[in-house]
Amino acid sequence: MPDAVTDRVGHLNNRLGGRIAFGGDWSPEQWSREVWDEDVRLMREAGVNLVTVSPFGWSALEPQPGVFALDWLGDALDTLSDAGISACLATATASPPAWLARTHPESLPVTADGVRLSPGSRQHYCPNSVAYRAATVALAGALAQRFGDHPALAIWHINNEYGAHVDACYCDVCADAFRVWLTSRYVDITGLNAAWGTTFWSQRYGAFEEVVPPRRAPYIGNPAQQLDFRRFSSDSLLACFAAERNEVRRVTPDIPVTTNFMGLFKPLDYWAWADEEDIVSDDAYPDLDALDPHIGAALANDLMRSLRGGQPWMLMEQAPSAINWRPNNPPKPPGLMRLWSLMAVARGADAVMFFQWRASQRGAEKFHSAMVPHAGPDSRIFREVKALGHDLERLSGLTGEQVPADVCILLSWDAWWGLELDSHPTDRVRMVDQLLAYYRPFWDANVPVDLRPPDADLSAYRLVVAPNLYLVSTAAAERLEAYVEAGGHLVMSFFSGVVDEQECIHPGGLAPALARTFGIRLEEPWPLHVEDSVPLADRDGRTMGTGTLWSESLHVVDAGAVVMFATGDLTGRPAVTRRATGPGEATYLATRPNPELMGTFLGDAAVRAGVTPTLTTPDGVEAVRRGSALFVLNHTQAEVEIDIGARMTSLLDSTEYDGVVRLAPRGVQVLRA
Ligand code: GAL
Repeated sequence: MPDAVTDRVGHLNNRLGGRIAFGGDWSPEQWSREVWDEDVRLMREAGVNLVTVSPFGWSALEPQPGVFALDWLGDALDTLSDAGISACLATATASPPAWLARTHPESLPVTADGVRLSPGSRQHYCPNSVAYRAATVALAGALAQRFGDHPALAIWHINNEYGAHVDACYCDVCADAFRVWLTSRYVDITGLNAAWGTTFWSQRYGAFEEVVPPRRAPYIGNPAQQLDFRRFSSDSLLACFAAERNEVRRVTPDIPVTTNFMGLFKPLDYWAWADEEDIVSDDAYPDLDALDPHIGAALANDLMRSLRGGQPWMLMEQAPSAINWRPNNPPKPPGLMRLWSLMAVARGADAVMFFQWRASQRGAEKFHSAMVPHAGPDSRIFREVKALGHDLERLSGLTGEQVPADVCILLSWDAWWGLELDSHPTDRVRMVDQLLAYYRPFWDANVPVDLRPPDADLSAYRLVVAPNLYLVSTAAAERLEAYVEAGGHLVMSFFSGVVDEQECIHPGGLAPALARTFGIRLEEPWPLHVEDSVPLADRDGRTMGTGTLWSESLHVVDAGAVVMFATGDLTGRPAVTRRATGPGEATYLATRPNPELMGTFLGDAAVRAGVTPTLTTPDGVEAVRRGSALFVLNHTQAEVEIDIGARMTSLLDSTEYDGVVRLAPRGVQVLRA
């Protein structure tokens, strides 16, 4: 970590006295002073030490263009600091006031269909609007000037969930900005024509002025154009973030800066984004109706830890109980909020925060749960909040601790964007679904996993897994080849290494360095019929399980076929191949094995790579090591018994365990030898 970042992160940690941050969004502009007083009293009672202040306060902070009304915020910050509570101070730029839309209608975003969105909700801004950017910088600057020295200020919270509702704008201003972006990428129009393959369908451009964003068109748009527009849109929002960050940093160079991410969020390339901030923070709203939502949540937690190379991150938002924005919103049952909070801490979070502190009485989120619900402090939710505050206090010693991993899963936003373009052999191969299919066996086996981009230095990992690295540059493919040649173990799925950065198919349909690495030649993709699966057999013809989603006709050139398609059009052809390179090994999966078989493959691959699990636990029970602490988390609804194989003491309640820990349904223990 660069020194300046270390120092700024140190500022936050000092403000919190080395404790885990605990709190939520606090919007004092929505409440009377009497309520503020009750708020800080209850915050203290619950052990809250950090609150995100007024993330949507813009119209209260700047009621008229250029006229700032910051006194109330000063009073609110004083109220916090008097109570010993710190502020994660929002720049409040995620919901522009009505006057911006009136004075600058061009600041409103336009959809791909040409519809200009209206004010009246939030996030109604075009990322390339000059007026919007200038107004955000002015507000951020005014806040930094006024509160830069305030004793409550611990960290800046820039904007809120960039791209959540409007991840791209197709207006004329963005069209111009897109052309500028393309000019710097391709220099001249010939370069763009070559990169986009515009001789196809007569799409050749004579000048940049003719290029537009991929707006609604009669039929499938140019894939390279769509891909570049994704990159441009992520960069455009990042430029909004950077403009505000630069302004607060100019005034307050010692205060760390973050903006809240949204887990596995496709529109923004979080690798690029994380480099621009001091601390990664994330908002986690797992779907309670999904199958095993905690596994997707764990994957997102691991991504957040990985984005800045293992540095602790902040769980900036989660719901204490129900949300209000899915069609059906059951509450989190007792214990679940604690379980998922401590799971985030186990996976590297140094902050557990919520949306929001006090439940709104009005507006679109009045049915969203809050730390203080409408029912007030005499409620299940507030009691669970207080208990969690107590737990986190007991875990103070863990801040800054690392979660070491020997396995990494490759994730590239370029590959994700490319994979999910239209006009592919199937639209059923989705990145998050594939990531989860490969992640799950490691979660089940308590093997910690990092995520890395494909061009990263992977030499520290024993095993690297690449689900659908559809788009890969020649350079990244060669690095993967070098990784295996140097003794690394690589597992890659079908429909990887297919195109280069311009969406142009690699020669032979598989990046040459990867063809060499796996010792295979691809002949024809063979996605399965929608309801079909295909039986798989080992070399002796014994049935092993089934493949779903995909198959392909491939040839082994310099590898062994370890699994074959057992019936159907590809009977006897390789479904899984392996090539050993001395200590290294490259395994290619030409189908998606059923979950059990995937578990066997990845489990065996981990063993051959010398990866050892943290602990063996009953199904649905998670074990994670962070620093010297062992977290055991029971995601089932039954009591479980875990063999920890040593004498350990609970950091949460000082209970001593002699080799065996019993956990209640949704129970957690954090242990140390
Ligand atoms: C987040 C957002 C919050 C709040 C929350 C509700 O996406 O950042 O402001 O809307 O969702 O779940």
